[in-house]
This record gives sequence, structure tokens and C-alpha cells, in this order.
Amino acid sequence: MSARQRIAVIAGDGIGKEVVPAAIECLESIASIHSLKFDFVDLPWGSDHYMATGSMMPADGLEQLSTHDAIFLGAVGIPEIPDTETLWGLLIPIRRYFEQYINLRPVRSLAGVDSPLKAGSNIDFLIVRENNEGEYSEIGGRIYRGLPQEAAVQESVFTRHGVQRAARYAATLAASRAGRLTSATKSNGIVHTMPFWDEIVEQVVTEAGGVELETVLIDALAARMVLKPWSLDVVVASNLFGDILSDLGSALTGSIGVAPSANLNPERKHPSLFEPVHGSAPDIAGKGLANPVGQIWSGVMMLDHLGHHEAAMHLSHAFEDVLAAGISTRDLGGSASTEEFTTAVLSAISETAKVVAP
Ligand code: NAI
Ligand code: MG
Repeated sequence: MSARQRIAVIAGDGIGKEVVPAAIECLESIASIHSLKFDFVDLPWGSDHYMATGSMMPADGLEQLSTHDAIFLGAVGIPEIPDTETLWGLLIPIRRYFEQYINLRPVRSLAGVDSPLKAGSNIDFLIVRENNEGEYSEIGGRIYRGLPQEAAVQESVFTRHGVQRAARYAATLAASRAGRLTSATKSNGIVHTMPFWDEIVEQVVTEAGGVELETVLIDALAARMVLKPWSLDVVVASNLFGDILSDLGSALTGSIGVAPSANLNPERKHPSLFEPVHGSAPDIAGKGLANPVGQIWSGVMMLDHLGHHEAAMHLSHAFEDVLAAGISTRDLGGSASTEEFTTAVLSAISETAKVVAP
């Protein structure tokens, strides 16, 4: 009998409130088939909490989260609140406090999902985004506000420790796959931090051995992701570059609605956080149109991280079978609502239960 695992659930805002309950239904069904014991603890944090209290989460929010085995998040952000408040009030503090320094974002073609590329059916690579430092820093400021000479300064922070640990994780991952690591850089234009990044990545990969490293300028890499995405295996990138490349990757495989992500603390000292790549999509929120695949696939990554590999495979096959059968939401050209798609996944879970359940 396995011990109970506590999952903190933050649906957040917009379509987060639709895709999180959909994915939780799927996870509950999988849990009952595989005899897994999860306590899903709903935390009503996000923009409603901000409107009521002036903060995105309670003052002891991080402490509350620390008692959980994982965090399952939808998205945060509403048009009425500046994105800097919503992002820096919840997601970024969680990523940093819990040293979730890896943001792992798979980019993979799915049967039944059309790519905008003519030959886009065999894309399969992983983006390892450095998730704790880099370009997303609070250091900087504005001076001469409102005057013609007004200026803004935003500093990037790259530490040896931070780059090393991201590069090590990516190199180990590449060694477990095709053994090819592509590092995104811009050392021609960004003359301090990027050559530093390149140097450390090269050192780490050389020390690790067995992995072929190529260092590619981010602009050329963006073009290559469109022209030859199948030539990539593992891509390691700074916080900003990884963020941008993963939206591009998800678009290449059909829609941002399908892309999952894991914010990992690889040492497992703290809970890791699982969330789709997409945001709260205010343009479609509340209409039942949201694609729950990114959230469900993030649930697959969470099951894997928690050690439930068979259950993870089961859930992955279920949503992939539904897509392959031609059922999809509007963003993928289909007509299913969030609820209809989820119902189809729940049926696929029970249909395949006999085959894959222990
Ligand atoms: P977005 O990802 O929310 O939406 C971009 C476009 O993709 C929209 O047209 C939307 O309808 C569509 N889309 C996204 N997810 C979809 C899904 N599951 N199914 C169908 N269509 C989907 O990005 P946007 O519009 O730039 O940001 C909206 C808000 O979300 C902002 O407040 C932003 O700060 C926040 N955001 C939050 C993130 C997070 O919580 N991790 C990540 C990205 C954005
Ligand atoms: Mg993003």
C-alpha cells in the first residue's frame, strides 16, 4: 500500500478554472484504477484572492505549499490586474522558493493533431528552460519618470551555480535520449551573460561526456525550429529564451493548448509544480472552449514525477487515443467542448483500464 500523497491544486484564473477540474477528474479516475491515494487540496488563490485581499496568495502561502508532495496549477492573470502583480505575486515566488530551477517542456507531435508545418508529424524534443534566474530579475528600475529623458534599466542575473545545474540536468536528459544537446545563446549581441552561459554549458557537457553539444544563436534556432524541428533532441535555454521557444514549439505541434510543463526541483527537497504552458486565455474563458490537453499532460508529468509510471502512461495513452480518434477542441479545428473532450478521455481511461492496470 502506497502512502497518501498531498497535491496542492491552484486552478487560478480564466481557463485555469475549467481545465484544472477537467484534469483532476482524469487524475481521480486514474488514481482509483491504479490504487493511488491522492489528497487534492484546493487552494482558491489567484486574482479573486488579489481583488479581495490585495495579494495573490496568503502571507503564509509558501509555507502552506511546502507541506504538499506536488503543486498542480492552472494559470494566473486577468486583464484587470497588471501581469507583473499576478506573475510575481504567485508563480515566480513559488518557482524560486522551492528551487524549481528546471522548467521542462516537452514538444511532441500528437496523432490526430495537425502541425502548421508540412512535415510536422515527427517532432519530439524537450526544452529545458532555466527557471530561477537569467533575464527574469527584479534588479533595475526607472529614473526621470515622466520626463523626456526617462530611462529604464533591467539587469539579467546569471550565476555559475544556476547555469551549471540547468546544464547538468539537460546533459543527463540528453544522455538518456539521442545524446544531442542544443544550447540556445546570443553571445554575439549579449556580450557578458551569454558568453558566460556558453562557457559553463560547454564545461559541464565536456565533463559529463557522451553528449554531443551544439551552441546555436537563438534567432537561427527559432528559424531551425520551424524548418527542421525533427533535428532537435534536447534544447537548453535561459529563462527568457526557453519561455519564447516553448510557445513556438507548442504552436508547431498544433496549439498552445496542448503543451505541458513541469517546474522541477530535481533534488526533491521541495515540491515541484506542474502546469500547462498556456496562460489564462481571457478571450475564451468561461465559454467551455478551452483545450484541457496541456493540463492533462501536465498531470501525466506529475504522475511520473511522483513515481507512478504506469499510471502516467495510462493517462497519456488515454488523451492521445482521443485525439487520434479525431475528437478535439476548437483550437485544434475540432468542435468538442472542454467537457465533451474530458468525457471522452474518461471513457478512454476506463476502456484501456483492463489492458494497462496492474
Ligand atoms: P494565453 O496562453 O492565455 O493565450 C494565448 C492564445 O492562446 C489565446 O488566443 C488563447 O485563447 C489561446 N489558448 C491558450 N490556451 C488555450 C487552451 N487551453 N485552449 C484553447 N486556446 C488556448 O496567453 P496570453 O493571452 O498572452 O495571456 C493571458 C493571460 O495569461 C495574461 O494575464 C498572462 O500574463 C497570463 N499568463 C499566465 C501564465 C501562467 O500562469 N503560467 C503563462 C502565460 C500567460
Ligand atoms: Mg510563457
